[in-house]
Amino acid sequence: MTEDLSRTGPRGARAIVLYPHSKAPGRYTVSRDPEACLDEAIGLAAAIDLDVRHADIVPMNRVRPATLFGTGQVESYSPIIEEGGIGVAVVDGVVTPIQQRNLEKAWNCKVVDRTGLILEIFGARARTREGRLQVELAHLTYQRSRLVRSWTHLERQRGGFGFLGGPGETQIEADRRQIDERITRIRRELGRVTRTRGLHRRSRQKVPYPVVALVGYTNAGKSTLFNRLSGADVTARDQLFATLDPTMRAIELPSGRSAILSDTVGFVSSLPTMLVAAFRATLEEVLEADIIIHVRDIAHPDSDAQKFDVLSVLEELGVTDDRRDAILEVRNKIDLVDPEALAMERNRAERDGGVVLLSAATGEGCADLLAAIDGLLAANREIIELSLDPADGKAIAWLYSRGDVLERDDSGPVATFRVRLDGAESARFFHRFGNSIKGGDRDDA
Ligand code: GTP
Repeated sequence: MTEDLSRTGPRGARAIVLYPHSKAPGRYTVSRDPEACLDEAIGLAAAIDLDVRHADIVPMNRVRPATLFGTGQVESYSPIIEEGGIGVAVVDGVVTPIQQRNLEKAWNCKVVDRTGLILEIFGARARTREGRLQVELAHLTYQRSRLVRSWTHLERQRGGFGFLGGPGETQIEADRRQIDERITRIRRELGRVTRTRGLHRRSRQKVPYPVVALVGYTNAGKSTLFNRLSGADVTARDQLFATLDPTMRAIELPSGRSAILSDTVGFVSSLPTMLVAAFRATLEEVLEADIIIHVRDIAHPDSDAQKFDVLSVLEELGVTDDRRDAILEVRNKIDLVDPEALAMERNRAERDGGVVLLSAATGEGCADLLAAIDGLLAANREIIELSLDPADGKAIAWLYSRGDVLERDDSGPVATFRVRLDGAESARFFHRFGNSIKGGDRDDA
């Protein structure tokens, strides 16, 4: 996205990162460590190759409508910016178009807020066609809102004779219309792409392996765990958003069964709503997963707040309470936790259940996770009794390959089976071979 670069300056530009910290309780019920927030913002800035030269937590008593920060605070950064040759000021919060314009004027450099920053990262990392379109759509929507509110005071008349538009038409309206046209085009294209994607997904469902999706806060260690479990060569970088589009690999579980492991994009706090939509594409995989593994960095000071964020976004996306049993929580990075704290963590994990402690980096505890996945899949299994025509080779072969055939009775005119199958797989079986069944029953396993 070349336009992004013109907004934030060239990659590698020197940057200052400011985290406005309000002591008053905000919209989040869980308060965050400002140091860790600043660290995250620095990480986000570094993720788009900005050269961070200075970073500060800026205490905020109140928000100034014109400049966000107080006059003294704004002035105090001017020499730092000027002397340091700073081209971009990242303000890790909400900056209105007017505040942005005033700060840019005062500091004589580009100002980017949190939404702008995340959009940059998403733009740089989107790999699939759908991902790119979603990001562009979010970006245009963001631009449009800035355009309207920040430029109305200019009211630049186009031409002045009214030949090109109706009387009173302003440049701003023309710009807005142009953006709207692009938005319409992108929406139409997205509709097409999404339909094809649906077809692909349906064809994948025919491969009836259970799907295990990794979700978690950015930098929690999803990619590292993904590599560890699948042996895949997907580079883990100490960079936020190393994974934007889902990546899938087959893994073998201790029982000998296979599953598909799916890595997804990392969550961030205060993800703007328009970006949540941009990532529905990648997170849709999560909705269809048989098991969701929530990877947490327990060495992070805001680990609990991050958990709250991830769970609330999952809820927004439609992972409702009845799917909670399908979520396994992984408390990662135990190698960074001191032994005493780790002992407490282990007690907590035992009490909470559905939790695995591990280190994706050292591999400690990964075997426990695989066993837990196996166990959860087995718990979701059901025993089915059904009868098939003994000549129905396809359906019978399917049962043997996907399930455990516990009993088979060939004494009658039809062959009767007692089979243990995953809930999802039995649904697939009935969907595919429902018409071949000669009558049958289901029990619980
Ligand atoms: P996003 O792609 O941004 O969502 O990140 P991610 O969750 O995929 O994290 P990733 O696997 O890229 O790991 C982030 C950083 O944490 C990397 O520097 C990893 O080496 C490090 N890391 C991951 N797991 C562990 C662990 O168990 N212990 C330690 N010490 N570091 C880890």
